[in-house]
Amino acid sequence: MEQRLFGSTKRLVARIGQGTWFIEDAERASAIAALRRGLDLGMTHIDTAELYGGGAAEELVGEAIAGRRNEVFLVSKVLPENAFRSGTRLACEQSLARLDTDRLDCYLLHWRGRHPLEETIAGFEDLQRAGKILSWGVSNFDVPDLRDALAIAGQGEGRFACNQVLYHLQERAIEHAVLPWCERHGVAVTAYSPFGHGNFPGSGTEGGRVLAKIAAAYEATPRQVALAFLTRRPSLFAIPKAIPPAHAEENAGAGDLQLSDSDVALIDAVFPRGPQPRALPVL
Ligand SMILES: NC(=O)c1ccc[n+]([C@@H]2O[C@H](COP(=O)([O-])OP(=O)(O)OC[C@H]3O[C@@H](n4cnc5c(N)ncnc54)[C@H](OP(=O)(O)O)[C@@H]3O)[C@@H](O)[C@H]2O)c1
Repeated sequence: MEQRLFGSTKRLVARIGQGTWFIEDAERASAIAALRRGLDLGMTHIDTAELYGGGAAEELVGEAIAGRRNEVFLVSKVLPENAFRSGTRLACEQSLARLDTDRLDCYLLHWRGRHPLEETIAGFEDLQRAGKILSWGVSNFDVPDLRDALAIAGQGEGRFACNQVLYHLQERAIEHAVLPWCERHGVAVTAYSPFGHGNFPGSGTEGGRVLAKIAAAYEATPRQVALAFLTRRPSLFAIPKAIPPAHAEENAGAGDLQLSDSDVALIDAVFPRGPQPRALPVL
């Protein structure tokens, strides 16, 4: 499993990690086995949130990583409604309790809400000083939001590490402005819903056929090719969610797959980036 520098953290993090949205709905033993199998195969970046299952996903992650905490780059998220200064601290304490750990490796604002970003970032900094989070970041931020966060936080080690965003073959909007901005400012970009939240291109579609053809050349699978494409730049990470351990194994197999320029061009042709959602100068 390739490891990459995760934004300003100066830490090496697995290129392919594991998501946990709706994981609590699955058969518990299978979900825990998948997360553990994923860890065995190097998918040590685990993403969760207080939102998921109202905390049930965090509890399940806590069980899965018991005795293996030091292997994991553990990420959770505060809900916007809780993201005022003291609310952020309290939400984090509750996540830590559910995860049965003393620290998060990265703590994210799930999306921007009504509380001023200054409040959230002050909460993150309190938590960082207390050693309860080792870094922090944001999620679902567009360029104007990113600029605001940077203006408040400033740049530097341990500050503003990551932007976690929707990114899959059929949703490439971040490539226009968000990804270039993050790369210029040393912010890691984590692709969530990398399989389109269960809407992966089928084998009977043109896109599915192109993925299968590329996959065959590497003795890989279409999903591994998709993950390799989505993490083709050093700033990018992906966190697919998988329940059966066999799915986790398949996803981990993308961790060292490097596509050629011609593979990328073939994928570009069949899953085009599409127009820029709105005109934004990249500053
Ligand atoms: N920050 C945010 O706002 C935000 C939003 C959405 C998601 N996220 C994070 O991103 C993670 C991933 O996104 P997601 O859960 O929306 O969807 P996803 O990872 O794009 O897709 C999950 C779906 O793909 C299937 N799958 C995974 N690996 C497979 C494989 N090897 N073969 C066949 N099917 C496979 C899963 O089925 P099985 O379960 O049966 O394996 C599930 O149906 C979330 O779990 C969450 O941690 C963050």
